[in-house]
Amino acid sequence: MCGIVGYIGENQAAPILLDGLSKLEYRGYDSAGIAIFNSGKINVAKAKGRLSVLDEKTSGGKSVPGTMGIGHTRWATHGEPSDENAHPHVSKSGRFAVVHNGIIENYISLKKRLEEKGFEFISETDTEVIAHLFEYYYKGDIMEAMIKVINRVEGSYALGVLCSDYPDQFIAVRKASPMIVGLGENENFVASDVTAILKHTREIYYLEDNEIVVLKKDGVKVYNMDREEVQKERFTVDWDVSAAEKGGYEHFMMKEMEEQPKALRDTISPRIKDGKIVLDDITLTTEDIKNINKIYIVACGSAYHVGVVGKYVIEKMCRIPVEVQVASEFRYCDPIISKNDLVIVISQSGETADTLAALKEAKNHGARILSIVNVVGSAIANASDDVIYTWAGPEIAVATTKAYSTQLAVIYLISAYMAEKLGMLTSGEYAKFISEIEALPDKVAEILKHKEDIQYLASKFYNCHSIFFIGRNLDYAVSLEGSLKLKEISYIHSEAYAAGELKHGTISLIEDGTLVIALATGQELFDKTVSNVKEVKARGAVVMGVTTESHENMEDVADHVVKIPETHEMLLPSLSVVPLQLFGYYVASNKGCDIDKPRNLAKSVTVE
Ligand code: G6P
Repeated sequence: MCGIVGYIGENQAAPILLDGLSKLEYRGYDSAGIAIFNSGKINVAKAKGRLSVLDEKTSGGKSVPGTMGIGHTRWATHGEPSDENAHPHVSKSGRFAVVHNGIIENYISLKKRLEEKGFEFISETDTEVIAHLFEYYYKGDIMEAMIKVINRVEGSYALGVLCSDYPDQFIAVRKASPMIVGLGENENFVASDVTAILKHTREIYYLEDNEIVVLKKDGVKVYNMDREEVQKERFTVDWDVSAAEKGGYEHFMMKEMEEQPKALRDTISPRIKDGKIVLDDITLTTEDIKNINKIYIVACGSAYHVGVVGKYVIEKMCRIPVEVQVASEFRYCDPIISKNDLVIVISQSGETADTLAALKEAKNHGARILSIVNVVGSAIANASDDVIYTWAGPEIAVATTKAYSTQLAVIYLISAYMAEKLGMLTSGEYAKFISEIEALPDKVAEILKHKEDIQYLASKFYNCHSIFFIGRNLDYAVSLEGSLKLKEISYIHSEAYAAGELKHGTISLIEDGTLVIALATGQELFDKTVSNVKEVKARGAVVMGVTTESHENMEDVADHVVKIPETHEMLLPSLSVVPLQLFGYYVASNKGCDIDKPRNLAKSVTVE
């Protein structure tokens, strides 16, 4: 939610900002704006709607000349999407322009005080408070004003600030909202994430909370709140530019689904050495693992669905009790956690507000935090005791695919790693499991090769009003994800149900022609799910069965059958999810939906 780009250099800033913002569109937004410094003045252009509106309004940035500026895409929280509420916000005298990602929790009291002092507010946003606060505290030293502002505001923020008294620099800061610094040749940047600046540089600084960065054309300095300079480590991002481009695909979602074999390989291969799982990234010792009392898995959205798979897998393989909770519930349920509990936090972006808050709640209870994160240096990664990165590369489509798959792979690696340390696997079982994990990328590639079969099925069902996904245990966990994918991008109502639970109410919704997608991939529960398929068939449902190659009798009960390759029982979700992702995609495509940017959704949900 909300995207920020800032630029200072020798080139015209506005086109660079507009291009950078276009790379952040995936984060979700409903208005956009830029502020450019030129000849002692700050000029602002902003517009409700898609970036193309702003692009047109500024003739691709040409109407706002200048070589330093800040830009923003806004996802409305305080006040409707409108030109007035769009960022940047400007202080009373026009001396300061501010872009902000996050939420200022005490903005009402600050606004009241500023109004008493004669400041007038044009927008309904919390951010305008910051612009006026700068003006209020500014006595000729921008750094001093920045520190005072930070001390006054509560909440989360990534801020980019232009001041017309400083023609050769702008400043920025972050706390619990993402912002990285890009280091170029005679040009420097800030951005909400790397994709916005990848075209210009791969050299970056990650910022800690409340580190203040001063950007000039020929250098960047970072300071702490005591105004002491902080020596930052430079990181080189190894994503190439094409990673954030569509590369000939119609949608990022299709490109990202196709990238799954590579993403899985990149995540799995470096962690298997000489037939053993090696998790160099974590400090959890065998002793620590033996002492784990209980595991919580906490996440949102699809990452939560990975957690549901994780519960079945870890409990089965390690015999440690696992509780999975959505982060927005966990953070307020006064969880019973002790210091011998391990909390696994899963997040692609590493910045989901509820997940971060849940992590902090768990930490306050003394639990150890192991996170599975895709974005290096993100808030969740920084706040964890241990991090295992998914090497999925940038994921742009709002509906996650390759991040989900790589999170699942990490869950498998952790489960087998712990099971081995706990002596729960014979060496033969361990070796077999590892070789099956290593085979996953090729098997996913095999499924993707036959994507036209799913495209055909989607063309038959895209007019449905309601679709049910059913399965048991791991198949149920995958059903949750399949159903979410479908509703996120195609806007078709869909529910995932534990197959055995359907008859306790929901089966009353099944009528002639209702599509039921039945997952029956595992051996043990195959017959049970087939019985449930018969129940819905008897009530008029059309059934699409998803099963493995060896299960021939699915054809006897289902109207359509999708086959996936065989693998270890525990690993089946990595394969069965792929046809469901494809199905959601093709249904949405048939309906002409905006697949990469579905309505009302944001990829990074940085508000509660
Ligand atoms: C949003 C996205 C989902 C994602 C969820 C959690 O709702 O649309 O695709 O699963 O956030 O995001 P995270 O970055 O924490 O994995």
